[in-house]
Amino acid sequence: MEFNRRQWLKTASLAGGLTLINGISGIQALTNDEIKKFNPRKLNNPIKLSSNENPYGPSDRVRNAVKNAFDDGCRYPYGYADELADMLAKKHGVEKESIIITGGSTEGLKIAGITFTADGGEIIAAKPTFLAMMQYAEMWGANINWVPVDKNMGYDLEEIEKRITNKTKMVFLCNPNNPTSTLLPADTLVDFCSSVSKKTIVFSDEAYYEYIDDPNYPSMVELVKKGENVVVSKTFSKVYGMAGMRIGYLIAKPELAQIIRRNVVAMSNVYAIEGAKEALRDKAFFKFSLEKTKEAKQLIYATLNHLELPYVKSSTNFIFFKSGRNIDILGKQMLDKGVRIGRAFPPFYDWCRISTGTIEEVVAFNKALISVYS
Ligand SMILES: Cc1ncc(COP(=O)(O)O)c(C=O)c1O
Repeated sequence: MEFNRRQWLKTASLAGGLTLINGISGIQALTNDEIKKFNPRKLNNPIKLSSNENPYGPSDRVRNAVKNAFDDGCRYPYGYADELADMLAKKHGVEKESIIITGGSTEGLKIAGITFTADGGEIIAAKPTFLAMMQYAEMWGANINWVPVDKNMGYDLEEIEKRITNKTKMVFLCNPNNPTSTLLPADTLVDFCSSVSKKTIVFSDEAYYEYIDDPNYPSMVELVKKGENVVVSKTFSKVYGMAGMRIGYLIAKPELAQIIRRNVVAMSNVYAIEGAKEALRDKAFFKFSLEKTKEAKQLIYATLNHLELPYVKSSTNFIFFKSGRNIDILGKQMLDKGVRIGRAFPPFYDWCRISTGTIEEVVAFNKALISVYS
């Protein structure tokens, strides 16, 4: 395992070289104006840092849009979804027929999985990763071919490509990956997807794409535009802070989108759709969410450095760190201190996934972690 002390020191300096911090000094507190403007929740009890949500959301503008849509609650959502699909098509530079609106991206993952494996066959996926597609497809008879992540917790693309056979119906990539928070190198990713999509369908789950630091990092939507066999999922649950509203979407070339769309079950609802439209317009909240996530990650890194706990440099709104303690035990210890942390992600039973919350929640997490380890 390459996460030795030298590695974490290196990672720590990459992460901004923070000095710690016992009473967590150096925290940039929210100004009153920010608090008023973005209306963060009161501290929940327990503080929930277990599901990679964004507790700053939904933004005030989204809330107002939802309130203004109340009268439309008697209408079916299709026309409203059509307008949102237009906006999304423009945003991504694709045809409207390429967009499939779903009840959270989870619905997109599930229906894409069964669309291509309902008659049997196999999905190749990394382990650990986000499981919604594979668990659902397995229930409908698919086999899952699991490829362990490499020693740096990244995808082993070579091994994935090697395992493709005529049984393979889909290769599932989650990039950045949940729970490891790792990001594939841009050029390797593009080459891999171009090559593999000639043999099978590549699914790219981009739930955390907005958190990637490099503004030029490619979305696999670029390959959709070239007509390749690539399906991309996106969500309003993370940076837009709308996880409870259940809205996400898939992007695929129209021929592929048409086949997947037939399997939509839930779709979304008028309130979420109207909220999503406003979320796309609300650039200030988007920027605010990203800034707060960065700030929260720096605070968590600083605490992990202080405790000498190795971690993976995160491209998401959560951090995966080596707790060195069984995760179920740590989970109970942290819950006793009022903080709910991520579950176990086999085979990494002594690693912990911690989501960023509000700055106040992260400060509470840091204090709880320090006390559990002292
Ligand atoms: C990688 C990944 N994809 C998809 C989802 C599901 O998001 P949604 O709320 O859009 O269903 C999650 C949720 O945590 C996730 O981590």
